Amino acid sequence: MLQSSFLIQPIKRFNGSSPIYKKPVEIGNFSYDEQRVLHMDDREMKYYHPPDLNNCDLSHGYETFIQRDGSGIEPIHSLIDAIEYVKSSDNNKNDNLYRADLVSWRGVFTKILCAPYNKNEPWELGATLWNDTIFLEEHETEQTKERNFGNSPRHKLMIYWGYKFENLSTINKPSSQINSPNDPELINRKFTVVNTNTQFCSVAKTTLGNTRMIMGAEVDCISDTKPKDLDKSVDNYIELKTTKLLEKSKDTYNFERYKLLKFWAQSFLIGIPKVIVGFRDDNGFVKQVKEYKTLEIPRIVRGKSGMWDPTVCLNFASQFFDWLKSVIVINDPKSSYTISFNHPFQEIKVEYAGIGNSVLAERHIK
Ligand code: A3P
Ligand code: MG
Ligand code: MG
Repeated sequence: MLQSSFLIQPIKRFNGSSPIYKKPVEIGNFSYDEQRVLHMDDREMKYYHPPDLNNCDLSHGYETFIQRDGSGIEPIHSLIDAIEYVKSSDNNKNDNLYRADLVSWRGVFTKILCAPYNKNEPWELGATLWNDTIFLEEHETEQTKERNFGNSPRHKLMIYWGYKFENLSTINKPSSQINSPNDPELINRKFTVVNTNTQFCSVAKTTLGNTRMIMGAEVDCISDTKPKDLDKSVDNYIELKTTKLLEKSKDTYNFERYKLLKFWAQSFLIGIPKVIVGFRDDNGFVKQVKEYKTLEIPRIVRGKSGMWDPTVCLNFASQFFDWLKSVIVINDPKSSYTISFNHPFQEIKVEYAGIGNSVLAERHIK
């Protein structure tokens, strides 16, 4: 095969009943510290504590913003390291748990899930098949660079707002241990430098239709203490988001059509049950915070014209993955395929890219 494509449009063929989606289970977690050093533990996990809406200025500290080096695209190596690490430290040696058809970051799966409703954000992925597993990694393009780093001073500031909201809504100990509004944790969070090197990531295993997936995902925070049992950890995770206050009917339409789709897909995939949204004004002050149960998000848009349907996303992704497994067949850690989704957003193309640019670094070939 040199090139092959999977047709997305018209999307009505993805209606019908949903494919099976198994509840994701955490199989491990890891952290990156402020210097971007990888640790196989949850040292960077944060706890949710509501932001102070009397003083929730998302621009505060912008001049000290430390944004991670590189393209903003995450190589897959730390995820593979984490899977290898948890597998080697699992005393029960349940090898099946670590087997998957697809391995990638949650962001890549979110892009795929949203593709039926995406008419303006192109993306490109690299894929390498090795030992029955396809490893997927996002490729940097001009558009993704712009999206991650901003294409104007205002856009850059708005990207900061999203990260600042995370600092203003999280603390380093469970919220139940805060007894006073003067607790240093609450005072200090406003002054914590926003540093996107720092991350807490969860690695989860799940199945969509016939496809077993292992994905890594950044988790913004946890509601209270982390359950000892890894199986249950996901139940306490929270995704934080910011969005413009809904003032005009167009704001509500954009929020429901574009933002809620992404919020739902991103959190549903990894089983995060709650999304907490900070609604901000045009000057970057959060005025209102609202909690959404991930599983209830689709109900908000159900039956409204021009919206989206989670069943279409899941059926599409499930059928696309079945097809992908049938076209990515060269089992070679040095080879790669390119998967692209571009204007006019009708189909996803897969092309064998040959030897080189492999998603797998030499050191991961065992
Ligand atoms: P918002 O989503 O609140 O705007 P995440 O919500 O996925 O944890 O990401 C945290 C913040 O990172 C986002 O906050 C946004 O500011 C920034 N961010 C994440 N993905 C981005 C992207 N593709 N383009 C631009 N900014 C992004
Ligand atoms: Mg995040
Ligand atoms: Mg977030």
